[in-house]
Amino acid sequence: MSNLKIAVLPGDGIGPEISRQGVAVLEAVADRFGHTFSFEYGLVGAAAIDDCGDPFPEKTYELCLRSDAVLFSAVGDPKYDNNPSATVRPEQGLLAMRKKLGLYANIRPMQTFKCLLHMSPLRQEIVEGADFVCVRELTGGMYFGEKYESDERAYDTNAYTRAEIERILETAYGYARRRNRHLTVVDKANVLASSRLWRKVAQEVAERYPDVATDYMFVDNAAMRMVVDPRFFDVMVTENTFGDILTDEASVISGSMGLLPSASTGEKTPLFEPVHGSWPQAAGKNIANPIAQILSAAMLLEYFDMKEEGALVREAVEASLDQEVRTPEIQVPGGAVYGTAEVGAWIAGYIRRK
Ligand code: IPM
Ligand code: MN
Repeated sequence: MSNLKIAVLPGDGIGPEISRQGVAVLEAVADRFGHTFSFEYGLVGAAAIDDCGDPFPEKTYELCLRSDAVLFSAVGDPKYDNNPSATVRPEQGLLAMRKKLGLYANIRPMQTFKCLLHMSPLRQEIVEGADFVCVRELTGGMYFGEKYESDERAYDTNAYTRAEIERILETAYGYARRRNRHLTVVDKANVLASSRLWRKVAQEVAERYPDVATDYMFVDNAAMRMVVDPRFFDVMVTENTFGDILTDEASVISGSMGLLPSASTGEKTPLFEPVHGSWPQAAGKNIANPIAQILSAAMLLEYFDMKEEGALVREAVEASLDQEVRTPEIQVPGGAVYGTAEVGAWIAGYIRRK
């Protein structure tokens, strides 16, 4: 029996709706397995700016620090996207949270679901069996480097230290060892100085993992390879910006962006979040797919070594897809329409009945 204190940060857009389903599934798991999970809610993103002017308030930070895990949903709001001169932005809340919690490793698994293969934008014979993990560095690079912004000139600095590169590589090799022992280091070492340091450090770290096959790939080539031959990849590791771009690309291979979860881990409280964003146009419409959030909850359970619990959540998700209990973007033509809440309730119900 486990006790877990979970900080729930729904954020913006579809965030609150999918967050409710993630919590419902965790409650079902707690009841089914006799665990005690407690949930405490906090504000982040535009919701926090509206409340107190700060996208990651001190109060939310303290909540994260005293929790065992954070279940995060999404941030972002069009009123900031369309206003480049806004100085306070919802995304800063997410970046501050990652930085202050030291969440340098973002684990983004790409998996396919058999019954959805035909919904991939790629041909079925290309995606069938694709299954890889992107390990994205999350607290360095251009996102956090020195910036300058005026109306005439602007820059972002893509800075990395040896220590930052080494620790994310260690994380990636850990995953490679637990999977098929193939690591692809993605960089742009033919152009960027920061990438040359990545490659140099990677070549050193690789010597400590002779049991893992390491290869090196330029990011443009990796973006191409991912759609031509996604089965090539087992684990890939890359810097913050490249990882952001490649994982959006990876997320649609499965057929919907609404399916892929992630875990951000590092120095302090680990955080579990869907790969997709806040999809403001869909907010309040009960149409967003809750599965990415629910699988993020599965990753949370697995992080705390609740393997059976995590496996049951995954089984319930697959059963919902198989039985066509699906949100509109992946529903079969003429199939019954299920909303965010209905899909979540079905999955939670499956867990309770099992
Ligand atoms: C992601 C998102 C964030 C990022 C945004 C919302 C700041 O796109 O988690 O991939 O760029 O890291
Ligand atoms: Mn992104």
